[in-house]
Amino acid sequence: MTGPADIQSDRLLRRMQHMAQIGALPNGGVRRLALSAEDQQARALLRQWCSELELQLRIDAWGNLFATLPGRSPELPGVLCGSHLDTQPTGGAFDGVLGVLAGLEVLETIRSHSQQPERSLTLVSWTNEEGARFVPAMLASGAFAGVFDVKTVYGALDQQGIRFEQALESIGYKGSDTVRASEFTAYIELHIEQGPILDQVKQMIGVVEGVQGIRWYDVTVTGRETHAGPTPMGMRVDPIPVACQLIQRLYNELQTFGDQARLTIGQIQTLPGSRNTVPGTLTFSVDLRHPATDTLFRMDQWLNSLIDEYTMGSRCSVTLEPMWYSPPVLFDPVCLETIEYAAASRQLPYRKMVSGAGHDAVYVNRVIPTGMIFIPSNEGISHHEAEYSSPEQVVAGTRVLLDTLWALANPENA
Ligand code: GLV
Ligand code: MN
Ligand code: MN
Repeated sequence: MTGPADIQSDRLLRRMQHMAQIGALPNGGVRRLALSAEDQQARALLRQWCSELELQLRIDAWGNLFATLPGRSPELPGVLCGSHLDTQPTGGAFDGVLGVLAGLEVLETIRSHSQQPERSLTLVSWTNEEGARFVPAMLASGAFAGVFDVKTVYGALDQQGIRFEQALESIGYKGSDTVRASEFTAYIELHIEQGPILDQVKQMIGVVEGVQGIRWYDVTVTGRETHAGPTPMGMRVDPIPVACQLIQRLYNELQTFGDQARLTIGQIQTLPGSRNTVPGTLTFSVDLRHPATDTLFRMDQWLNSLIDEYTMGSRCSVTLEPMWYSPPVLFDPVCLETIEYAAASRQLPYRKMVSGAGHDAVYVNRVIPTGMIFIPSNEGISHHEAEYSSPEQVVAGTRVLLDTLWALANPENA
């Protein structure tokens, strides 16, 4: 049974532009934090498109949105595709959105094809992938996969102290539908690479074999608040110099873990945050990554021992709180072979690679055989307003998604 020959590129690109207007920033980027008013608008637009296609819509307890195109044998486990619509505070117009709208385009293309697929196809938009508003990242795909319990998800707080559950209810997305992993035989996520490899080697498609491990922490350095003017320097218990030395050591010593080790300090906050008060505390986040479990484990031990050293050797107290661990992941060989075959058949130059970024696919992979497709990111830029993939790259990735989903939904063709 032959699949649809092609997607409608104009329709897909138009929808991506339309979605990018929701939460649009002045320099071409998007701010659409999870469960914000902008997220609510983006969901409404996606639902409108899904209902125009008469897809069957379900919303689960985490606000994940599922839209199904029934196959000829709806009793068989179906094929799932998708990604997320939330963004970083100054994010781009491609991270996450591509996987959702390309999935929609594929479902629409298949729906108007002369032959119905054997298995049902479902599009999913996961809640709070970014972890920019609620920690950790991939919170609702993790809940779907049974990694996080209700208390952890609903109790997650944003920086204003708003609970995830309250935010979910306030935008009207605390759903009551049950969607089980056992309903699906495969999950495929198309995403931008968010790194420089495909752009540098001028290849169109990444067949993503796995995702590197991630560890998140909060470090708190506690000193003593005091007046900025009268207090002599020697009488202060100031967390700032201690944090500066510690951060400098972290950057210097990271190299001992090799080229693949990553360290990011994305948040630094002082309290009470007043210009003329020596701060009582300084808190900073640490994001450590490595593709190898044992190296990431050694990086964790290194961070712990540095913190111990500073706790004992300074007048300030220094504490380390682990916030999240996402172990390195290997995706399903059958999904990957199917993606590779699709890229090769379309004569698109491709390479196998490991993802540096986390994705919903990481948690979904625990409960459904999973694979990921990458397209290039211009100059490797992502989590930035200038994030960009060309129309040609968006279309190429969506074609590979189309052929992959069609093959997985019609296994008798294999
Ligand atoms: C998710 O976007 C991550 O890699 O932090
Ligand atoms: Mn993403
Ligand atoms: Mn992201």
